[in-house]
Amino acid sequence: MDQLSKCIDSRETESEVNQSIQLGQSLTVNQTPTLFINGRSVGGASSWNDLKFVIDYEIEYQKTAKNAGEDCGCDVRLPGFAPSQPGSVKPAGYPIPVDGPTGELLRAQGRHNMRPAHLHFLASKDGLKTLISQIYVADDKFIDSDVQFGVTRHLIGDYVLHENEKAPAPDVKGPWYSLRHDFVMEPGASKLPRAPISGKAQGERPKIPHLA
Ligand SMILES: [Fe+2]
Repeated sequence: MDQLSKCIDSRETESEVNQSIQLGQSLTVNQTPTLFINGRSVGGASSWNDLKFVIDYEIEYQKTAKNAGEDCGCDVRLPGFAPSQPGSVKPAGYPIPVDGPTGELLRAQGRHNMRPAHLHFLASKDGLKTLISQIYVADDKFIDSDVQFGVTRHLIGDYVLHENEKAPAPDVKGPWYSLRHDFVMEPGASKLPRAPISGKAQGERPKIPHLA
């Protein structure tokens, strides 16, 4: 303890510490621990089984990849929001319909009908099983009580606010959010699912009540 206090007081290693912080920020490290496996960032505490899966996958993948480290899977950047939603810079939560048996069940249990804010993702690539998921907003009021029980710790994203930077999408003015998230996909057949909704509903959007 003495040694640590002396070290802090003398500020002898301050520049070294600052360098480490800068390196972490440049690699978008925002969780402890964060591991890099063959250039792929794995944030947060992971079980040995999950880590083994990523290591085995990277070993297999590198047999066919061109550049070790830099060529791990794929890096996709999405604009995030469609121009049809002007002003949307971060997802918002929404209520699920309560006019059927689901509503009766929720009322009987005294539960609300809100889904915490999230973005939907569908990732597909030849040779990998299609992955469909949602990434949730950590500070949503309903993050701990999703009506659909869809939230897990690994599906909570890090939406970062940018207040004084130009947004990559030209139609977004003012503050905006970015989200970086790594999906680990399993080797297998790539198949696209049939969309459960095939058309767009006509008429006015129905108003869905919010249960307290
Ligand atoms: Fe949704």
